[in-house]
Amino acid sequence: MDINGKLYKKFLERNAAYSQQHGSVGMKKQHSKGKLTARERLMLLFDSDTFNEIDAFTKTSPSESNFGKVVNAYGDGVIIGHGKISGRPAFAYSQDFTIMGGSLGSVHAKKIAKIQDMALKMGAPMIGIIDSGGARIQEGVASLAGYAGIFRRNVISSGVIPQISVIMGPAAGGAVYSPSITDFVFMTNKTSYMFVTGPNVVKEVLNEDVSFDELGGAEVHMKKSGVAHFVYEDEENTLLGVKKLLSYLPSNNMENPPTAEVYEEKLEPESALLEIVPDDPNKPYDIKDVIKHIVDRDTFFEISENYAQNIVVGFARLHGRTLGILANQPKVLAGTLDINSSVKGARFIRYCDSFNIPLLTLEDVPGFLPGLDQEHNGIIRHGAKLLYAYADATIPKITVILRKSYGGAYCVMNSKNLGGDFNFAWPTAEIAVMGPEGAVSILYRKELIESDDPVKLKKELAKRYRDEIANPYVADEKGYIDEVIDPALTRKKLISAFEALENKHVNSPARKHGNIPL
Ligand code: HXC
Repeated sequence: MDINGKLYKKFLERNAAYSQQHGSVGMKKQHSKGKLTARERLMLLFDSDTFNEIDAFTKTSPSESNFGKVVNAYGDGVIIGHGKISGRPAFAYSQDFTIMGGSLGSVHAKKIAKIQDMALKMGAPMIGIIDSGGARIQEGVASLAGYAGIFRRNVISSGVIPQISVIMGPAAGGAVYSPSITDFVFMTNKTSYMFVTGPNVVKEVLNEDVSFDELGGAEVHMKKSGVAHFVYEDEENTLLGVKKLLSYLPSNNMENPPTAEVYEEKLEPESALLEIVPDDPNKPYDIKDVIKHIVDRDTFFEISENYAQNIVVGFARLHGRTLGILANQPKVLAGTLDINSSVKGARFIRYCDSFNIPLLTLEDVPGFLPGLDQEHNGIIRHGAKLLYAYADATIPKITVILRKSYGGAYCVMNSKNLGGDFNFAWPTAEIAVMGPEGAVSILYRKELIESDDPVKLKKELAKRYRDEIANPYVADEKGYIDEVIDPALTRKKLISAFEALENKHVNSPARKHGNIPL
């Protein structure tokens, strides 16, 4: 081809016009809000020089119903493409708020659907960067139909490829539902928000004044609604968080998670595990200290850190291999299971199961949280989700009971008969139908009423109950526990137990799908 000829010139002019579109005006607007542009975000997410854009020149036809507002820009407000993240293929779209508020019209939607289809076909993670005012109002039903097509693809891809949503500006109206179907939602503090209906509608319908942040800021979704799994202070760190998360995950459900090199055999002094859990069952401690001493150094990556903190979930590596960890947190609500923690735990287990990530449960739970609030809001059906998720999961599942394991909570937390592959206990474990005080109050009610010194009697009975019943040895002798282990040897035990489960295979009866109590 003649590089001075007409054809090549036109090609260059077109590309130059496109580059200019991403130039200074829009860029300045985004930067002035503390935000990066759609393209800058992709450049940070993908390995240097690996991102390839497709459909850059698509446009909405001016003949489409536009209510006097035509989107006269290449690309229709979204960049789609593929590249490599930490050396592995990935697909992404990134909405451009500077073009019609990143709103979703039919061309915009078709582009997102196209890249979703490609990611699914290629078995690679799909990342959506959202900065959008929702359905493009002037395109009417075509926008709504566009969203519906995206949601359907999200559902088809669920459990097949990892889907990650990164909210980096508004996610209003229809823009919130795709993220909520995907596996993980990242938000950037102060510059992102998510809501189904905005502050104006809230004012009109309910006559309440709320700010964007109060209604759907990152903190609200991290701490109160649980919609956001990760929140970072700026966009660069948010995107680094996405890369870190991906490093634990396989590219699709047919692969195993990637392995990392193990630099040292013994990474934190395991003898410290003997010191962390107090003998006094009423004393709290931080379960994250236990996790830290079991997994490979600095590999624990917590999910939903500030939501339902009575359960801790996250990924880590054990001897270089990805592991899902679900642990009760005795320092929050004494580690009891309530509605939010049950749902948080259940969703995490489903994720691990979808993507072949073995699961370790660290148990110290006095039971379900009692009370009117919990019962009236459905702890029965929400607690059942956790139970269901554990029993349904076919990945390798190991539980270590550190201290309390009472009642329904014993059953739920991957007990032997629920399908635990290996069930270990520390000598500090207390396994029984209920705690000593409650148990003796029921069994010895008459004797306690008639006693001259009921306090002393109750104390004696509780001690006897603990010695005779609420310990790990009864369960061990009956085979409900595979082994009572030395806390200092927990890491070693777990490495060899998970190795033994490496080729675990479960033949489940054929069915369309189970009916998890949603
Ligand atoms: C068309 C839109 C738009 C939309 C924003 N714009 N949202 N255009 N459709 N949904 C345009 C604006 O007209 C403006 O165009 C430009 O984007 C920037 O918007 P501003 O309002 O100037 O920006 P800002 O002040 O930062 O406010 C951002 C915002 C606000 C909070 C997102 O634009 C807003 O409230 N938008 C509507 C949000 C909403 O209610 N969406 C729900 C749609 S219904 P110009 O030309 O002036 O630059 C929906 C239902 C789907 O999504 C349901 C599926 C389940």
